[in-house]
Amino acid sequence: MKRIATAVVALGASAMLALSGCASSDRGPASTSAAPSTSTSASASTPANANQITLGTGFAAGSKIGVSLPQKTSENWVLAEGLFTEQLKAAGFDPIVQFANGGAPEQQNQISAMIEQGVKLLIVGAVDGSQLTSQLAAAKAAGIPVIAYDRLLTNTDAVDMYMAYDNFKVGVLQGTALLEGLGKSAKKSPWNIELISGSPDDANSKPFFEGAMSILQPKIDDGTLKVVSGQVTQQQTATAGWKAENAQKRMDAILSANYQGDVSLDGVLSPNDTLARAALTAVKSAGKPNPVITGQDSEVESVKLVQQGVQYSTIDKDTKKFVTKVVEYVTDIAAGKPVEVNDTKSYNNGVKVVPAYLLTPVIVTKDNVCTEYAPDTAAGKAAAEVCK
Ligand code: BGC
Repeated sequence: MKRIATAVVALGASAMLALSGCASSDRGPASTSAAPSTSTSASASTPANANQITLGTGFAAGSKIGVSLPQKTSENWVLAEGLFTEQLKAAGFDPIVQFANGGAPEQQNQISAMIEQGVKLLIVGAVDGSQLTSQLAAAKAAGIPVIAYDRLLTNTDAVDMYMAYDNFKVGVLQGTALLEGLGKSAKKSPWNIELISGSPDDANSKPFFEGAMSILQPKIDDGTLKVVSGQVTQQQTATAGWKAENAQKRMDAILSANYQGDVSLDGVLSPNDTLARAALTAVKSAGKPNPVITGQDSEVESVKLVQQGVQYSTIDKDTKKFVTKVVEYVTDIAAGKPVEVNDTKSYNNGVKVVPAYLLTPVIVTKDNVCTEYAPDTAAGKAAAEVCK
């Protein structure tokens, strides 16, 4: 009887944990398929000073470093490839930087090959962070520290830390910009909007969407915003593979089914620039006026569109600053030094809470597009071209 009571109490506690896992502080994967969340594995490795962690025991100058990147679904990944190669070399390492253009199976093979080649550290921007469990376990067994880069690695205890721009904040900034843009438009509320979310296999898609909905949902509930298609969940709004053609097709279908005649499309939440431009193409071919639309990544084309007032906003997540920070950490880890983390709570990957170092994203609109970017970045050069 006592055992049953204990079990019930334990179940109650884990149900509460699961519930609190749904709160906005959990940036991890949807908990349905993931293992139950436990904080025990995290606390086992939490150091005395929660802001400093040590990854592995160090390695020699000249060591091989593996950098496995996903498909080239946006310009930031292409920029990262060049920057990692250049900066890791300059720091005295021997980088192996590869894209997994063929998807998750290719990335699995690549990571296995990197381990075979004797890399001393792995930096992984996953195609699908939940599909690398056995490769990461092999890395762990070989004593190779693993940094999840930009996208969280899930369903594994073999990830030492996560480095990214704050994904939830990105979503909050996008939701806020959409409302702000609509507020400035000629039309009075209620406004008709549509929502686009990212690829469901990318762990970032959830915090992007939830961050944005934390701002938009109350305005949908009070009638200020109307999602005319009725497609409001992450699943309904998803864009497989972050592909422009998939977002465009979905917008084409939504426009022809819901926006006939003089029904206006006033705003679109787009999670990134590539998909924003795809949505704008669909709107144009439906013969509708330009809606207020968000983006992310400060891609060259979109920086120009923001300056021209065609795309309302984008996000500055400076890839150069990001890669520089990661390479600085690689140097410290090689020397056996601890590195700083600034979020030890939000990123539950289904197996453990992964300590994270988060950088701060910045919203960019017409107001700051000419002043926001570092001049030596692709976005800065695009801005310089149009901001004369
Ligand atoms: C990145 C975004 C990017 C998207 C598509 C996400 O994981 O955080 O910056 O737009 O992937 O490539």
